[in-house]
Amino acid sequence: MTLLKAAQSAQKNAYAPYSGFRVGAAILGRSGAIFSGCNVENVAYPEGTCAEAGAIAAMINAGERRIAEVLVISDSASPVSPCGGCRQKLVEFGSTDVVVTMIGRNGARLTMTLGDLLPGAFSEEHLKGV
Ligand code: THU
Repeated sequence: MTLLKAAQSAQKNAYAPYSGFRVGAAILGRSGAIFSGCNVENVAYPEGTCAEAGAIAAMINAGERRIAEVLVISDSASPVSPCGGCRQKLVEFGSTDVVVTMIGRNGARLTMTLGDLLPGAFSEEHLKGV
């Protein structure tokens, strides 16, 4: 299973009746295992969760702690961009050089690193010395 196939398969299971915007995310863990997730919306809108959050939860539940690579897919015209909250969630488990591939419809594709996506991230360093 490739990251792309895992994300595509997750996207098919997305529960997005309110936005109609289906997202799939796949994470390659440092062990080589792949974890995926889809967005799960809720009638109380803020309770919905992003695909990236689902993939992270699957990774942590499997005992894996570090992200090697990420791929996110949706049917947006331009490659889907992880929301700010998900960038922070990904940074918790991935270093700044982790590659994030974002895919939209018709193969639109953009590749950035986590460091590009969230420069100056709040980190454990900031908690020190308080
Ligand atoms: N969404 C994700 O799952 N991941 C992203 O990277 C961007 C947005 C979801 C949240 C919501 O269910 C829908 O897309 C529209 O915002």
